[in-house]
Amino acid sequence: MEKEFSQKKRVATLTLDDGRSIELPILSGTLGSDVIDIHGLAKLDIFTYDPAFFSTASCISRITFIDGDAGLLYYRGYPIEQLAEKSDFLEVCYLLLDGQLPDAAQKAEFVRKVTSHTMVHDQLARFYNGFRRDAHPMAVMVGVVGALSSFYHDSLDINNPEHRELAAMRLLGKVPTIAAMAYKYHNGFPFMYPKNKFSYVENFLYMMFATPAEEYVPNPVLVKALERIFILHADHEQNASTSTVRLAGSSGANPFACMASGIAALWGPAHGGANEAALNMLIEIGDISRVADYVQGVKDRKYRLMGFGHRVYKNMDPRASVMRETCHEVLKEQGLENDKLFKLAMELEKIALNDPYFIERKLYPNVDFYSGIVLSALGIPANMFTVIFAVGRTIGWVSQWKEMMAASDRKIGRPRQLYIGETRRDYPDMSER
Ligand code: ACO
Repeated sequence: MEKEFSQKKRVATLTLDDGRSIELPILSGTLGSDVIDIHGLAKLDIFTYDPAFFSTASCISRITFIDGDAGLLYYRGYPIEQLAEKSDFLEVCYLLLDGQLPDAAQKAEFVRKVTSHTMVHDQLARFYNGFRRDAHPMAVMVGVVGALSSFYHDSLDINNPEHRELAAMRLLGKVPTIAAMAYKYHNGFPFMYPKNKFSYVENFLYMMFATPAEEYVPNPVLVKALERIFILHADHEQNASTSTVRLAGSSGANPFACMASGIAALWGPAHGGANEAALNMLIEIGDISRVADYVQGVKDRKYRLMGFGHRVYKNMDPRASVMRETCHEVLKEQGLENDKLFKLAMELEKIALNDPYFIERKLYPNVDFYSGIVLSALGIPANMFTVIFAVGRTIGWVSQWKEMMAASDRKIGRPRQLYIGETRRDYPDMSER
């Protein structure tokens, strides 16, 4: 149960070398580490320096909790393992947005609302023609999701909760359609309009893999696997892409444009691009006999093992355990258990889990190591992996954006810096340079 968020009078005292000192409140959340509130520091004309935010909480949130040491991930208090086993993606979306699980009527209404927003404006389809066919689908996603802002800008009042709700439904409904269209465009196939008789995940697979020429029947094992991938990727508190969405949104920017900024941040190989990078790495290794050499190259710091390590999880990524199980289910269903790449992946996993270099650095397979294999077994090409991640993460970005917009103390985000450039100097004439 949620405890009352408390600010009981605990303080940390900071004393500077010039004798000045300040008392800083210590805040306690309902779970997790205490946080020192350094708001007041600016009064002393001094800032903190924390590149890459190793020690900085950027906001107060009620949505997602992670304990990296214990390997815990909760959405609104519910452990990810329980949600992955018992829930479905749209129910998880409701939970993240609303804070509570829906009852049957609320769930049916939510599904109806999201489903009624799956089509995109016909004009939006024309944007695709501006892209080269060989453009990376994430580049297309940044452009087309951003372009949604040109359709819903003047009619959208971001200070009105009902308008924000509508933007959330539109994003949830349309991002899978836009993603599937990016895939179809890349391959020169006709776009498939959404079919609302299908579930959210079935519909996405339908828009990806159906053609007008054939009947499409979703495979329940593959639907379940993708449902899990979406659930596991739905939110992850203040990661790089979510923080980007919050920072962009803090200026009052259009939410569709903010989502495009999140997609851009997600694309990088250190973040959402890792599942694509992990599969490419397996392809590059090529044969099980080369795994040991490759691992040696990692230890010699020639390259990183993609799909291993995490900024927050230092013992185990709880999503990875769930995804590992799904990975085995899907490979069995697809008859790929003896697949060369999969065997190579398992050998890499075994070596890395037992090698002191990785154990000492707490480098374990993360969710993307397994999700890359699963997505590949589902027939999804590697350049679409991060797009799939973006489809699942859209709800996290929207929920975090909505939470920030509803906060009474919302302010534009504006980090400071430690300046180490030139001191003041006068402009010299050209002849003096
Ligand atoms: N392979 C080899 N060595 C690694 C790896 C890796 N994947 N990750 C970290 N290390 C090593 C570093 O070289 C460093 O070693 P040192 O202490 O001897 O110098 C040590 O582990 C700590 O590394 P940092 O880069 O400081 O760790 P950080 O927390 O900043 O990085 C990150 C986390 C970016 C995820 C990193 O582990 C990485 O690059 N992993 C590969 C990419 C990946 O899989 N990303 C997906 C993240 S999950 C997600 O976005 C859903």
